Amino acid sequence: MAQTQQTSGARQTFGTRQIFGTSRRSFLRDVGLTGGAGALFATMGALGLAPTAQAAQRERPFRAPRASDFTLTGRAAAKVVVVGGGVAGLTAAYELGKAGYDCTVLEAGDRTGGRNLTVRGGDGTVDLYGNRQRARFADGQYLNAGPARIPQWMVTLDYCRELGVPVEVFANTNADAYLFNASAGMTEPVRYRTAKADVYGYVSELLAKAADKGALDQELTADDRERLVEFLKDWGELGEKLTYEGGERRGYSVVPAAAGTPGVLLGDVPTVSEVLASGVGRYFSFEFGFDQAMPMFQPVGGMDRIPQALTRAVGDRRVRTGAVVSGITDTGRGVTVTYTQGGRTKTIDADHCVAALPPNILARIPHNLGPGVQRALEAITPASAGKIGLEYRSRWWELDHHIYGGITETDQDVTHIWHPSHGFHGERGVIVGYYNYGADADAYARLTPEERERRAVAVGERIYGPKYRTELASSFSHHWRQTPHLEAAWHDTPGGPDHPRYKPLTEPAGRVHFAGDWLSHTSAWQHGAFTSARRTVTALHARVLSS
Ligand code: PHE
Repeated sequence: MAQTQQTSGARQTFGTRQIFGTSRRSFLRDVGLTGGAGALFATMGALGLAPTAQAAQRERPFRAPRASDFTLTGRAAAKVVVVGGGVAGLTAAYELGKAGYDCTVLEAGDRTGGRNLTVRGGDGTVDLYGNRQRARFADGQYLNAGPARIPQWMVTLDYCRELGVPVEVFANTNADAYLFNASAGMTEPVRYRTAKADVYGYVSELLAKAADKGALDQELTADDRERLVEFLKDWGELGEKLTYEGGERRGYSVVPAAAGTPGVLLGDVPTVSEVLASGVGRYFSFEFGFDQAMPMFQPVGGMDRIPQALTRAVGDRRVRTGAVVSGITDTGRGVTVTYTQGGRTKTIDADHCVAALPPNILARIPHNLGPGVQRALEAITPASAGKIGLEYRSRWWELDHHIYGGITETDQDVTHIWHPSHGFHGERGVIVGYYNYGADADAYARLTPEERERRAVAVGERIYGPKYRTELASSFSHHWRQTPHLEAAWHDTPGGPDHPRYKPLTEPAGRVHFAGDWLSHTSAWQHGAFTSARRTVTALHARVLSS
């Protein structure tokens, strides 16, 4: 993240834009909390009983319920109704199913996955404004409208492995992608590598000169100073006089090739003032982010390979789609869930319920779980985000710009433009023409799909040139705040999920247990949904075993 000083649950800035995320500090706090268990595990690791301490630090150790937990104790597996067929709900049913729990998943939409949505040719949506879209993407082309990148440390990859979902590298940064800050007066984009060389070069020059002049002598010993300057010369590609004069890292207008073609360096090195005024420096801390560093991954063929595999593992017959829940009642001895499906009202009785639907939706469903639950649900606020997939007839960004994957960053309302990380050298490809948040996302959402395309293409054309328009084959846009049954891209949980306000949700309310990424320290990541579901499964299973 560009800035990481905020605490968990606070709004974070990303570039000039605000989005919600989990701060590094909150992550470290979380690791700190598991320090005791971590130490224990290190010892077990040394004995060959557990993974290494480092591996154990990914999360609290999880042991899936097993059938033998029941056969050994003579207890029967309970009946559980899971409300919400997103990643959290499916995971709860999947893990409980390993021990033979009788789970039923009620999903309001016509497919499982929740915000994990991959749009392919033929897929259609209707948003809350009544906009109807049907994707016309060619075979093999898709848009991951929701989650689209997975860091190595997240448990999401473990589920991919366990479920047999193949993954491939997702290019989250690319030295040859562009930066475009029009509000700073840029009329054409600059390559990431060029801007980075200039920013690092000048910052290094300034610091090296300050140190050299003795301006840091309060802070540094003579040896420190010398080592710092040595580092900065290398880091900023400085000359003997500690000045930055550009160089190879900026790139070439003619690349080096055979004898006789030494290459021509990019000319016109900007001044330090110009570089600072361009504002490009704000983009470089992104790749340091704990949750955004390369390499990252994506499932081959689309992110929804994950909920599809989970749904198969749970068993199709246990999943009811188009089931819109209208009431959750804890009866003291069980839970009754009322829902409508195909115009008919139905009820389902179970021993326990896992409520794995968005808090903003749950808050509107009549329940008897108490005012504390309701207050906690209402304190969590939904956030906006949107994406448009622009399908092109040719991969002109590879052919003409030599950009293979990665993200172009802008200060325009499209915010991020993503190049596809798969299908290289293929015939077609889908560019994410905007991935934006908050007010920008809502502004696009209010347009018709055709207007969204027009507006996004107009921005992209300024960056990439006419092919951004002329090669376009079709588009499909998606806005989460305006999506039925979800109405959020992710959620802001002020104070973080461990704030006492949310205790009614992090503990069961009678026989109802809650789960979702919004109850985790990694909101807006599938990892949050997986780990929250695991925590809930662990608590529910312990309760059943001790009852
Ligand atoms: N996981 C989403 C993404 O990577 C949203 C998010 C962004 C969450 C940044 C936290 C930080 O785009």
